[in-house]
Amino acid sequence: LPVDPFDLVIFGGTGDLAVRKLLPALYHRYADGQIPETSRIIGIAREGLDDDGYRASTRKALQENGGDKSKIDAFLKLVHYRSLDARKDDGWDDFAALIGGQPDHVRVFYLSTSPELFVDICNRLGTYGLNKGKARVVLEKPIGRDLKSANQINDAVGRVFDESQTYRIDHYLGKETVQNLLALRFGNILFEPLWNAEHIDHVQITVAETLGVGQRAGYYDHAGALRDMVQNHLLQLLCMVAMEPPSSLSPDAVRDEKLKVLRSLKHIDESNASQLTVRGQYRAGAAEGQSVPGYLDELKDHKSNTETFVAVKAEIANWRWAGVPFYLRTGKRLPERVSEIVVVFKPVPHSIFDPSAGVLAQNRLVLRLQPDENIKLWVTIKHPGPGGLRLRHVSLDMSFAEAFGVQQPDAYERLILDVVRGNPTLFMRRDEVEAAWHWADPILAAWADSGESPRPYTSGTWGPSAAVALIERDGRTWNEDS
Ligand code: BG6
Repeated sequence: LPVDPFDLVIFGGTGDLAVRKLLPALYHRYADGQIPETSRIIGIAREGLDDDGYRASTRKALQENGGDKSKIDAFLKLVHYRSLDARKDDGWDDFAALIGGQPDHVRVFYLSTSPELFVDICNRLGTYGLNKGKARVVLEKPIGRDLKSANQINDAVGRVFDESQTYRIDHYLGKETVQNLLALRFGNILFEPLWNAEHIDHVQITVAETLGVGQRAGYYDHAGALRDMVQNHLLQLLCMVAMEPPSSLSPDAVRDEKLKVLRSLKHIDESNASQLTVRGQYRAGAAEGQSVPGYLDELKDHKSNTETFVAVKAEIANWRWAGVPFYLRTGKRLPERVSEIVVVFKPVPHSIFDPSAGVLAQNRLVLRLQPDENIKLWVTIKHPGPGGLRLRHVSLDMSFAEAFGVQQPDAYERLILDVVRGNPTLFMRRDEVEAAWHWADPILAAWADSGESPRPYTSGTWGPSAAVALIERDGRTWNEDS
């Protein structure tokens, strides 16, 4: 269904995220007829470009993405550009007049800049009265670099935009499989009775990337994997697995339940960080068949202690999950690009089978987010045919692309339209961000205080061997079935 006409302003309009994700996402929704022709997409950056220059670079990005030429031409008519600096007055009058010219439009200000600019941009938007009417602001993660800076940003943004106008995006929540997790957990009677410490042995959440930090080294070196991925994406996935059934899909019903999970995370600090966390940094090695430089070479700084890999054994201190570890790991320059949630069930209480029948493996539910999106339930069956009762572990497969024959939309496509529609269910509320930092801060402090460097790992391997030891110490292994 088409959304109402809107003006979407992208601050950081020439940046990596805008070019690689936001503009293609808008193009795809436009090509599918969901964006009315009177909508406007306005890129903002400091570069002295004009509309034509911005359209030309947008065209290039869309063509590389495989867009259709005539649809790209039509889409570009919606695209505009203004050169603005959040810290200078120049051009803001003209920009305010441009936005003010369409007072009935939903206005979305998408802040795809470094978080240090969020406050200046919001203050300007407030000064020029652009926060009124159907205005919404989207904040990209990470919000700050710790609880204190997140609070400063949220306070300052909150003086200009109401919480109901503020959309803190975590694009992992827009991924198809994550939504499907909701359908699976709460649309079936099968899983919920088993979804607890009595029947679940442990959960693994892996977000592995083959890419290095490349051009983003400047940003990344101030963040590191815990701030860039774990504090937001991995914790949000953990929440979707662990939350209690919300009473509805209304924004606060869902976010209240996620918040309870975040607040129940067991504290990790200097007393236990060395047993419960592993951090690594990639060295030169291979990625997708090519030899690649190490992190420090890319950064051109041989002293950085920034981690490009993290593994954590997290625990949730509540009745449902007591004693069930959630092993989280994420890293750059790992052997393959794969994101998955693996729910491993307990073994059957007693085996009636002869050992010669084979190993009785534990049931596993594997929710794959990427590269291919699917859900597999691993079960034990009898090996077909004669030859006695031999056990076999097979997966019941539900591959979305094959089952429905459709291309899944990118997470940003769904989430941007949710902002336009005014639906914040899949966005983080302020208290969630705070609770996530409350958990992450003591880990970061413990690492900093330890004086230790991250463990080196060769590009193209699964991180430092300590990450394998983290799970194997508990008699478990990282999932290897695809
Ligand atoms: C971003 C991180 O939020 O997510 C990046 O800043 C990371 O470092 C990216 O590469 C991964 O997203 P996706 O959708 O490609 O898994």
